[in-house]
Amino acid sequence: MRIGILTGGGDCPGLNAVIRAVVLTGESLHGDESIGFLDGWKGVLQNTAEALSVERCRDIMPIGGTILGTSRTNPFATEDGPQMVLSTLAARGIDALVAIGGEDTLGVANRLGAHGVPIVGVPKTIDNDLAGTEVTFGFDTAVQIATDAIDRLRTTAESHHRVIVCEVMGRHAGWIATHAGMAGGAAEILVPEVPFDLEAVCERLTRRHAGNQFSSIVVISEGAVPVAGADAESAQRARASSSVDPFGHARLGGIGSWLADELERRTGFEARVTTLGHVQRGGTPTAFDRVLATRFGVAAVAGVHDGAFGTMVALRCGEIVRVPIAVAVAEVKTVDLALYRDVAGVFLG
Ligand code: F6P
Repeated sequence: MRIGILTGGGDCPGLNAVIRAVVLTGESLHGDESIGFLDGWKGVLQNTAEALSVERCRDIMPIGGTILGTSRTNPFATEDGPQMVLSTLAARGIDALVAIGGEDTLGVANRLGAHGVPIVGVPKTIDNDLAGTEVTFGFDTAVQIATDAIDRLRTTAESHHRVIVCEVMGRHAGWIATHAGMAGGAAEILVPEVPFDLEAVCERLTRRHAGNQFSSIVVISEGAVPVAGADAESAQRARASSSVDPFGHARLGGIGSWLADELERRTGFEARVTTLGHVQRGGTPTAFDRVLATRFGVAAVAGVHDGAFGTMVALRCGEIVRVPIAVAVAEVKTVDLALYRDVAGVFLG
C-alpha cells in the first residue's frame, strides 16, 4: 500500500517516533511505501510531500518537533478544500492516510471520512485533552519539563521569600497544571475547569505565609479564569488577543502576569511570573512518550491494513485499542475532578 502521513496542529515531542514507527512497520511487515505530506493539511491541499524511507527515519526518534513540519491549516476553511484533498490523494495514488494530531487535525480527519477519505488517526497533544484515549503522547514530556521548571522556581522563590506564578499550557484542560503542580508541590493549582476565587487564593497564601512558609509556587493553566465578576472581566481585558487561528481559537497567554500583579497588590507579598510557553513543547521526548508514540505508530499501520478507517488508535487500561475518531473529537477530555480536588487538593495551601 502507499500510506500518506501528516502531522497537524501544535507540534509535540514524539511526533517523529510515530512517523518512524509507521514507515518502518509499513515497510518491514507489509512492503508499504510511505509519503509524508509537509506542514499538516497544508501539504495535502498544496500537494507538497516527500518520500519517507527507513533511511530518512534513522535516528529521528529522540528529535523533538516533526520532520514533516506542521501547520494549523483547515481544509474546510474554503469550499473547494475537501475536493483539493481528494485530488492530491488520487494524484499520488495514496491508499490510506495516517493523520497525527489533536482535536482540530482529527476533527478535519473525521469530516474528510464523510468524503470517502480513508484515514486512521493518531492522538497527539501536550495538553492531553483529547477524548477517547487516556493519554496522548507529548503530555509526559511537557509535565516533566514543567516539573523541572517548578523545582527551579522553588529555590529562587524560597531565597527571596516570593510568590512565583508559573503559567503552563492548557487551553481547555488543566492536565499539565494538575500533574506538574502535584509533582512540584505547588501551593495553588488553577485550571480552566474550575474558575478560581482570587480572594480565596489570597487568603490561603496569606495564611500559608503566616505559618512557617514564606514562599509559594502558584501553577496556572493558560486557559484558567477567575469566577464570573469583576476579576474575570479584568483578567479578560489583560489577556485579550485579537488573533485567532484557522480553527477559531484565540491565542492565549497572559493570565499568569495578571495573577502575579493581583496577588502582589492584594497580599503585599512580592510576586513574579514565569510563563513556560513553547518550552513545554520543544526538545526530546521522554522514554514514556517515545514508547507510546511507537506503539501508536505500529497500531496505526495495523489499522490501515485492517481497513479500520475512521478510527483512532488510543491507550486504554494499558492496551492500544481503536476508537471512532468521531468519539475522540466529540468533546474535550477535561481534568478528572476526583484527581484535582480529592488528591491534588489535599496538598494545596
Ligand atoms: O498544542 C496545544 C497548545 O499547546 C495549547 O495549549 C496552546 O494554547 C497552543 O498549543 C499554542 O499553540 P501555538 O502558539 O503554536 O499556536
